[in-house]
Amino acid sequence: MKRVLSGLQPSGQLHLGNYAGAIKQFIAMQDDHEMFVFVASYHALTSARDAEQLRTNIRQVVIDYLAFGLDPKKTNIYLQQDVPQVTELAWMLSCVCPKHMMDKATSFKDKVAKGLPASVGLYTYPILQAADILSVDPDLVPVGEDQRQHIEITRDLAQKFNHNFCDEDDPVFRIPDAMIRTDSGAVVPGIDGQKMSKSYNNGIDPFMEEKPLRKRIMKIVSDSTPVDQPKDPDNDTTYQIFTALVGKDDERAIDLRDKYINPPSEGGFGYGHAKQALFELILDEFGEARKKRIELLNDPGYVAQVLKDGAAAASERVADVTRRARAAAGL
Ligand code: ADP
Ligand code: TRP
Repeated sequence: MKRVLSGLQPSGQLHLGNYAGAIKQFIAMQDDHEMFVFVASYHALTSARDAEQLRTNIRQVVIDYLAFGLDPKKTNIYLQQDVPQVTELAWMLSCVCPKHMMDKATSFKDKVAKGLPASVGLYTYPILQAADILSVDPDLVPVGEDQRQHIEITRDLAQKFNHNFCDEDDPVFRIPDAMIRTDSGAVVPGIDGQKMSKSYNNGIDPFMEEKPLRKRIMKIVSDSTPVDQPKDPDNDTTYQIFTALVGKDDERAIDLRDKYINPPSEGGFGYGHAKQALFELILDEFGEARKKRIELLNDPGYVAQVLKDGAAAASERVADVTRRARAAAGL
């Protein structure tokens, strides 16, 4: 059985982009892979400065993972700070990381341009990510396109460490592969048509109360084609969000596409109708998750147990990898 590792940063409320781009893949893989899915809380410290808010966000991500359908019987779910040995591995990897590798990383520049403090932690963040990944010896790392460079850095660092410290036939680190969605739904647009992102305030949170959720969906940008005129679904944000959630081949998506292209002569088909269809789809697709989330919010004992079990499973693997890395390096 192949082993999988991935994680999300607890930097704010999750949105449909995080679901379609990341969590949906984790759920699809959990039946036939050994899964490690964590909350990248140390990573969030690159921007978080409010302890209470960070605690809330961390808990939120765990509850959202479980509500969306990650099953703790199949997936080890843990918090990064509950497996602190990853920071030891990060140090060892940083000692074989040429400085120019970090200089070339684009996320530092992007994040500083967005206003994050240009700390050393933010600068070396890809090394910590490499340690997260290599610490459990995974075969596959499912992530969004924006993380491609970080997986390449991870592979490079693993190879450098192995090359410096190990015999060729006895490497410490397994070289993992990235698993990246590249289909048309791979990047989910936000309500303004740009990439949906926590930092652009353009997200749709599927756990919102119905009324504000509908209001939010009605705000999705659209052009001014009249209701009785045909419209191009591929250029419309509402249709793009719809298909990112269920795929273009889903019956509901095919039906919606047909209405864009051939609006019914009676009443026509406007963007308002498309948005209503998206609203109903979200209630339908996430009905279970919405209910489950409320139960989870009321059951902190269960959530704590899930994290304890997940941390125990991850710690066991990480301890083994760390022991091998120490021995190879002469520590
Ligand atoms: P954000 O941009 O909202 O801060 P993150 O950078 O924390 O999101 O991303 C967490 C995960 O969700 C990553 O694997 C990323 O690729 C995926 N993701 C984020 N936004 C989108 C999006 N709009 N479409 C598809 N996947 C996304
Ligand atoms: N950098 C990732 C993001 O911003 C989060 C992350 C940290 C991660 N460590 C990871 C993702 C390890 C996959 C594997 O989304």
